[in-house]
Amino acid sequence: MVDMKAKVMGDRTARGEAVEDATYTLAQRRFHWWTVLLVATQVPLGLFMVRYGAATDFAEPTGKLYDTHKLMGLAILLLALARLACRLAQGVPADEPTLEPWQKVTSHITHWAIYALIIVVPLIGWLAISYYGPFEPFGIKLPVLASQDDARATQAFYWHKLAAYALIVVVGMHVAPLSSTTQSAGTVCCAACGYAPGGSREDSPPQRRP
Ligand code: HEM
Ligand code: HEM
Repeated sequence: MVDMKAKVMGDRTARGEAVEDATYTLAQRRFHWWTVLLVATQVPLGLFMVRYGAATDFAEPTGKLYDTHKLMGLAILLLALARLACRLAQGVPADEPTLEPWQKVTSHITHWAIYALIIVVPLIGWLAISYYGPFEPFGIKLPVLASQDDARATQAFYWHKLAAYALIVVVGMHVAPLSSTTQSAGTVCCAACGYAPGGSREDSPPQRRP
């Protein structure tokens, strides 16, 4: 079995020399597209269920929508933690050499902000639900993070909503095709997208960065 860490370390020390794999690893690409799928479902679901519940006095299937949102949110949290561990262990390809320094910095800030938010948003949601009492989506008994406190639940949901809206904005910056403010946006526009599932960034420089 290949020692991935050693391989990556080898790539890092071999800056400027040809190495086999200067793209995101297959695991990283899979993590990315699973995250996209889940977050792209989770956000509209959250926005819809709240408004549907308010408009119908929580008529069915509001409860099921809420339970789906809670379970999917926990799945995103687990995925984000696994993905972060994978990134810390394997590094990522070096920046596109054509980017200006400010574009590199902006792209790094955007990526780390997304990592932070896909961890913080579900954690606050979980905390908020815990303040409401037992946490049993679809009858599955799950651990709570705090004891019951309705006032804190309201506060925590306010922050959950705010952080979720921040996530929408940051992901918008990440994918906006006409924006040149992030490295990824440029890459998305580019036909040689190195991040497509199974794709490769053929012109990427032969290094990885942490
Ligand atoms: C990355 C994961 C998550 C995202 C992106 C997300 C996003 C959202 C969004 C956009 C809303 C609607 C806010 C509004 O307009 O009022 C919402 C509401 C809500 N979320 Fe999440 N959420 C996530 C994870 C979770 C988790 C893990 C839980 C609980 C375990 C949760 C529980 C709730 C609840 C109960 C509401 C309704 C709050 C209310 O009625 O005011 N969410 N979420
Ligand atoms: C919910 C939506 C999305 C989330 C949460 C997300 C998250 C992320 C994160 C955290 C990274 C940084 C990876 C790392 O450096 O470890 C990343 C990179 C990337 N994403 Fe996304 N992404 C989303 C949507 C998209 C979409 C729709 C596309 C393409 C159409 C895309 C294309 C890319 C590309 C090309 C990179 C690599 C950029 C680079 O090398 O700097 N992403 N994404």
